[in-house]
Amino acid sequence: MDVVRQTIQTYDKIASDYCNKTRQSRFLEWEENYIKRLLFFLSKPQSLILDAGCGDGRHTILIEKNGGRAIGIDLSENMLKEAKSLYPDGDFRKMDMRKLLFDSDSFDGIWASGSIYHVPKSDMRKVIKEFRRVSRVGGIVALSFKLGIGEGMEANPKSYSGSPRYFAYYIRGEMKELFGRFGFDELESCTYPEEIFGDNNQQMWFRRSV
Ligand SMILES: C[S@@+](CC[C@H](N)C(=O)[O-])C[C@H]1O[C@@H](n2cnc3c(N)ncnc32)[C@H](O)[C@@H]1O
Repeated sequence: MDVVRQTIQTYDKIASDYCNKTRQSRFLEWEENYIKRLLFFLSKPQSLILDAGCGDGRHTILIEKNGGRAIGIDLSENMLKEAKSLYPDGDFRKMDMRKLLFDSDSFDGIWASGSIYHVPKSDMRKVIKEFRRVSRVGGIVALSFKLGIGEGMEANPKSYSGSPRYFAYYIRGEMKELFGRFGFDELESCTYPEEIFGDNNQQMWFRRSV
């Protein structure tokens, strides 16, 4: 089976467990700071942000709480159900970030937290091209991903009963080079504190320059 379909099947299965874990406040404080940084770089009231791979929608809420407007998209129906129950007034849509059903130049910014690592490396250019198309010149893409090398299906027996998900790993320079090819300049980057998140996660902010 296609690795994306398999990964989405897993999210449909683990949605409620996943959301219980990620709604822990020790994550939220850090994540909110990174969202604030995105909105700071945009410095425009009511910036429209695409929450790509929104999962449970907690970030969609934080974007709006901090003065932005947000649309959350995800491919997993059960994650979208979680998002809708957490935030009934939120705008959540089923959509693949490899093929965005939005007009060009629609968004001021894109927030992709822990979602692009589920895109096969061979499709990553497609995603960045779509991010570029739907964001306006001067727009910001903020993303987090797992630091490392390689890609493949992973099923950790200790997490989510060993349900398989696809992961692609990148190093910072690789991501910078990929986004650079599509006219994005790196603005800032930082590593998530491992003692909080457990994993080796990288956060990066890019500005669409052309
Ligand atoms: C690790 S979760 C992250 C969710 C949320 N952004 C967060 O930070 O907790 C990854 C999410 O990306 C979604 N996803 C994976 N591939 C996707 C794709 N091609 N298009 C849209 N969503 C996708 C999954 O369904 C899942 O909800």
